[in-house]
Amino acid sequence: METKLLSQSLADVEADALAVLLFEDQAAPPELSSAAAWLDELKTSGEFSGKGGELAILHQPAGLKAKRLVVVGGGKRDKADSATLRRATGSAVRCLKQKGVKRLAWSLSSGADAAAAVEGAILGNYEPDRYKPSTDAKPLESFFVVAPPDAASSVERGRILGECQNFTRDLVNEPANRLTPMILADRARAMAAESGLECEVLEQDRMRQLGMGSLLGVAQGSAEPPALIIVRYKPATATTSADHLALIGKGVTFDTGGVSIKPADGMEKMKYDMAGGAAVLGAIRAIAQLKPAIPVTAFVPAVENMVGSRAQRPGDIVTALSGKTIEVLNTDAEGRLILVDAITYAKRLGCTHMVDAATLTGAIVVALGTINIGAFTNNDAMLARVMTAAKAEGEKMWHMPLDDEYKELLKSAFADLGNIGGRSGGAISAAWFLREFVDDTPWVHLDIAGTAWLDDAKPYMAKGPSGVGVRTFVKLATDWS
Ligand code: BES
Ligand code: ZN
Ligand code: ZN
Repeated sequence: METKLLSQSLADVEADALAVLLFEDQAAPPELSSAAAWLDELKTSGEFSGKGGELAILHQPAGLKAKRLVVVGGGKRDKADSATLRRATGSAVRCLKQKGVKRLAWSLSSGADAAAAVEGAILGNYEPDRYKPSTDAKPLESFFVVAPPDAASSVERGRILGECQNFTRDLVNEPANRLTPMILADRARAMAAESGLECEVLEQDRMRQLGMGSLLGVAQGSAEPPALIIVRYKPATATTSADHLALIGKGVTFDTGGVSIKPADGMEKMKYDMAGGAAVLGAIRAIAQLKPAIPVTAFVPAVENMVGSRAQRPGDIVTALSGKTIEVLNTDAEGRLILVDAITYAKRLGCTHMVDAATLTGAIVVALGTINIGAFTNNDAMLARVMTAAKAEGEKMWHMPLDDEYKELLKSAFADLGNIGGRSGGAISAAWFLREFVDDTPWVHLDIAGTAWLDDAKPYMAKGPSGVGVRTFVKLATDWS
């Protein structure tokens, strides 16, 4: 979809529809005074009062070149923020594309976040229909933001962020037969080449030489070889600061659970167990275009967690890259096993700050549902940076505890650590497991198991991958100072 800034009067905008956001109790803007009677009628009849989610369409509006005038409810004005706008454009796009609208113009009120408007439109226009092209909802072809010329850079940022979130969603949506670890590595290479980024893929032999026994233990049950995907962004202008940000994403292309096998019911969803990896790849794709001043490296340990005669067994003891030994008490707690070798490697490459995103535990879904990401840290200042970025970008996050007492849960009789901590506090013991390998490097762990996948479509977004994490990562990097 093309996105464009139009700096002209609303009357002159040519489009299939011209939409405007109206809050509760808000009158028609002066430029649309010709539609005031229509709006009054909508309000007195109760058809449209400006509540969030409402939408009304007027065909052949007098005095406008656009074929339709659309009013979209924004709810209460004092509660409105960028997220309101993002959802409003998304919902409008999803509704109007079903009605055959191809070119949608959006009249932005002054001071509104153009990036959020464009993002919402791009996210709403996305359908996970690669293998079943939808016949009823053809995508929008153009989205025009009607705003003064100074909105140009914000429109561009919104385009980049929207497209990169959809890049992530495309990866997550691929079934595991079509997205093996090697194919994910190929996709990362292609993306890096297009984006002017460096990409390096560590293959099995190299990982064996290095001693990544924890990651390789998970991979050994699959006929599909593993990969550690590394994508580097280096700022063109030399920075004085020595900071180097690592974005680390869990890349389990399918999680059967291994020998500690998962129930059959719902297992098909486990193709999204690489959503963290896809998010860091989408983020660095955006970072390449937005060019922040800090070097950023994305790490995606990619494996398939399978059952079979070569699979690791409960009770197996592996040695991680850091030298620590791990008793694999449950082969379904595989995400942490692959992440820790990536974490150790990121430290060796000189990364000074780390954020990881992982569909790590069912326990975080129990704790926070599908609304908030669980955020864990060993460094409150680092968490504050991530939380500030998340808040600005409308990605909800909740600070979860990581007290020393929880560390006890990971004790093993036979190795330095066990890979599970029992049923209670499952998301916390998983985070502690990672922390054992992070040591003192400022780090934030994001458990996105509840937020990376929508079980049902939202008015503003299709069912399936949400692309969560991308916006926070990009904001973190572009606001770094
Ligand atoms: N990929 C799962 C976590 C998950 C569960 C993601 C539900 C999305 C939805 C992870 O590898 C896993 O299986 N974790 C186990 C850990 C347990 C064995 C300690 C879990 O959460 O049950
Ligand atoms: Zn698992
Ligand atoms: Zn998993």
